[in-house]
Amino acid sequence: MGAFLISSPALMAALLCTISSVWLLSDVVGAQHAGITRHYKFNIRLKNVTRLCNTKTILTVNGKFPGPRIIAREGDRVEVKVVNLVPNNVSLHWHGVRQLQSGWADGPAYITQCPIQTGQTYVYKFNITGQRGTLFWHAHISWLRATLYGPIIILPKRKVPYPFAKPYKEVPILLGEWFNADTEAIINQSLTTGAGPNVSDAYTLNGLPGPLYNICSPNETFNLKVKPGKTYLLRLINAALNDELFFRISNHSLTVVEADAIYVKPFQTETLLIAPGQTTNVLLKTNLNTPNSSFLMAARPYFTGRGTFDNSTVAGILQYDNGNPSPKTLPVPILPPINATSFVANFSSKFRSLANSQFPANVPQTVQKQFFFTVGLGTQPCPKNQTCQGPTNTTKFAATMNNVSFILPTTALLQSYFSRRPNGVFTTNFPTTPFIKFNYTGTPPNNTMVMNGTKAVVLNFNTTVEVVLQGTSILGAESHPLHLHGYNFFVVGQGSGNFDPNKDPAKYNLVDPVERNTVGVPSGGWVAIRFQADNPGVWFMHCHFEVHLSWGLKMVWVVLDGKLPNQKLPPPPSDLPTC
Ligand code: C2O
Repeated sequence: MGAFLISSPALMAALLCTISSVWLLSDVVGAQHAGITRHYKFNIRLKNVTRLCNTKTILTVNGKFPGPRIIAREGDRVEVKVVNLVPNNVSLHWHGVRQLQSGWADGPAYITQCPIQTGQTYVYKFNITGQRGTLFWHAHISWLRATLYGPIIILPKRKVPYPFAKPYKEVPILLGEWFNADTEAIINQSLTTGAGPNVSDAYTLNGLPGPLYNICSPNETFNLKVKPGKTYLLRLINAALNDELFFRISNHSLTVVEADAIYVKPFQTETLLIAPGQTTNVLLKTNLNTPNSSFLMAARPYFTGRGTFDNSTVAGILQYDNGNPSPKTLPVPILPPINATSFVANFSSKFRSLANSQFPANVPQTVQKQFFFTVGLGTQPCPKNQTCQGPTNTTKFAATMNNVSFILPTTALLQSYFSRRPNGVFTTNFPTTPFIKFNYTGTPPNNTMVMNGTKAVVLNFNTTVEVVLQGTSILGAESHPLHLHGYNFFVVGQGSGNFDPNKDPAKYNLVDPVERNTVGVPSGGWVAIRFQADNPGVWFMHCHFEVHLSWGLKMVWVVLDGKLPNQKLPPPPSDLPTC
């Protein structure tokens, strides 16, 4: 446990100073921000790790799994020097960091940069502006984020308190997904045969599967030692590849205070749902009346799709003083049914922005551009002379937005945009509404074939945008955690079934909607989001299920420069990797 327990804020501050002085910061930029610059060095290297009694070589940062945490205060600058010492091409993404005018540091491979090749180095440089809470970093190429991920902890500015009682301790809890096989082989095989990829062998809590699996060492269980009557801040991160997860701690209730590095109106819950790409801070008040006892914390998936999924449960221990550290006898927390869609709808409706004078919710009250995107699955034809294992043996699985399955280019989109050479790399005709209208959540159309393309939507600087994301039932309705790079958006409405443009907008919350970077498009339903295009660059929007990302459920927004100097994308850094 020790490795993941953050000490008290005071101690953490001390740690921050240590990091800073070790790197002898020179370039503290004073003009744009009052913070300091925090330097990190991330060596991507191989490491042998044993889980589920099986040893495997994985990609790590600095030999750590999960990877090291990045700690910064709001207003700080972060510089991460990434050195690729593995055979794979790598790129890292700072998931949820707004990257205001620093699109070159965003990280998705072939979108904002070419990947960092073996032996090469790239320094990601960005500021943390207007955000506080928990985010995470992860690899953004193929399925490498299976093991390349770690927390980003953003503390408030110095001397600025949390908008809730100061916690006694802070603990990151990263939910992940473990595969005994090589995840690159798994996705490559799936893309070749057209079948759904093999599912994971376990979920993990801070990299550890826990006692409900066949494990060979007690060190494979996350153990959080707590004292009675204290408040702990749990920084929850879902870094799993393909699964939304329910989370609960037996005999304890939790208070949600933040989501995706934005404070929310606190609310209590026993069970959380957290989608891949989402992060949330919760307060855990420990009991006074259960000394020397232990409880399980557990997570397992929410799933409504048609294919197979990993239906197992990860557990860790919450241990009071000399509580029983032997988990075999501990009751497993009761979680909602696997397909508890109404629980999920109710839970996600509880998130509200603080929307006060200190933390206003700047929701666009009117919109200049309106979009309607379907999100869901589809099919591709099987190549000639091949038998496939998609929905039929003549088709492969695909996934789309507005029936376009996005093809990654072989060069970085941001570079081709910046150098004004989009020709042959991408087109700007991503459809604003589906070409063919159908009963999206009813009986699917007979023809489920998708189109392919590298299509973008171009937005003028500062455009106010609304996107209705409509789930489809093609090949089974399921929830899709949609993530937007470079922005937070406000979740102004959601519902089940088909969006009704005549009735639903009247029910929008334009007062205190939650602001986040990843939202679950309800299974067989829709969600409406709004944002203002105030960050120039090329910004990826995609399903954060890695399998759907691989199948093409992604698109890009090109946000043009504004007129003022501080409304322009700066030129690329000199060390930007080449393809
Ligand atoms: Cu966390 Cu493009 O993703």
